[in-house]
Amino acid sequence: MSDMHQLLEKAYQTNDLTKDEITVLLENITEADREDLYRYALKTKQAYYGDKVYMRGLIEFSNICRQDCLYCGIRASNEKVERYRLTPEEILACCDQGYKLGYKTFVLQSGEDRWYTEEILVELIHEIKKRYPEVAVTLSIGERTMETYQSLFAAGADRFLMRHETASKELYEKLHPTMRFDDRRACLNDLKNLGYQVGAGFMVGLPGQTSVDLAEDLRYLMGLRPDMIGIGPFIPHSETPLGKEQAGSIEDTLVMVALARLLIPDSLIPATTALGTLHPQGRELALKAGANVVMPIITPTSVRKQYALYENKICGDDHPEDCRYCIERRIQSVGFQVDLGRGDSLRKNRSS
Ligand code: 5AD
Repeated sequence: MSDMHQLLEKAYQTNDLTKDEITVLLENITEADREDLYRYALKTKQAYYGDKVYMRGLIEFSNICRQDCLYCGIRASNEKVERYRLTPEEILACCDQGYKLGYKTFVLQSGEDRWYTEEILVELIHEIKKRYPEVAVTLSIGERTMETYQSLFAAGADRFLMRHETASKELYEKLHPTMRFDDRRACLNDLKNLGYQVGAGFMVGLPGQTSVDLAEDLRYLMGLRPDMIGIGPFIPHSETPLGKEQAGSIEDTLVMVALARLLIPDSLIPATTALGTLHPQGRELALKAGANVVMPIITPTSVRKQYALYENKICGDDHPEDCRYCIERRIQSVGFQVDLGRGDSLRKNRSS
């Protein structure tokens, strides 16, 4: 058996690889090895989650952001982007529409927009939970204080998505002039300790990112053991300092998705919109490489295009019902079943 095959077999059998082993794997993997890796990842996903793919309705409620991440199209210094902020009433109208389409998770995502204070968010979460007690509320609003996270959890928020973006301190600091590496990790720890189901994750193909950095991303996740792991390719946005850089590749991203499935086997892993943007079948390929969640956009069509973290983002002209059924067809086309339940993480179900 080749060295590479031994590593893949070890990852599949033990769900464990050292940082060096991951690095060796990333630097030497061939196309044939990749197919084997995807097969192992799919087998692992089937063993933990079966054929089911969970759906989340994504509401991008504000593109106003105080941070200035070098890669991101809605960074504070991008003066070309037309800013918008949905009102709480508009967000609730999205939820009503999403609920009618069958979603049992709403993901409320925004830039770091402090107009949405703790008080306003608490009231909004209360109202969503009052209208739909069986629905899970996921927040993706960036860094706040531990006290705010606590209040939002007490108000009924169930989950929180906050990618660690990269586990390399050096790269993190280059890409995030307004943020601190240690703060990000502290937030993720706080969220976990407070009882949220937590999603971390990273981008693949960032300018300057090495295989060692990517190995460290996986090792960090193995330590954190988040409930969800979002992995997407870096895609340049022309109105950012990284506008002329190369995008991450579909293959490298799929390899990271598959390795995340093998090394954190009980996690929920979305087939991300960024993968769908990079390749017409990007999300289907991710589902075949171990992903098991999709996040169709239910943001109103009138503002969708303004939530451009990267360029050529798909679904800009679509309506919430288009995305709902388009994704359902895509899931079925690769032989999986849509599950419209809450789709809590296996870890949560074990501890409750
Ligand atoms: N390319 C790919 N992903 C991006 N994100 C932000 N900007 C980009 C980009 N240019 C990702 C970040 C963030 C998530 C919401 O979107 O990882 O956490």
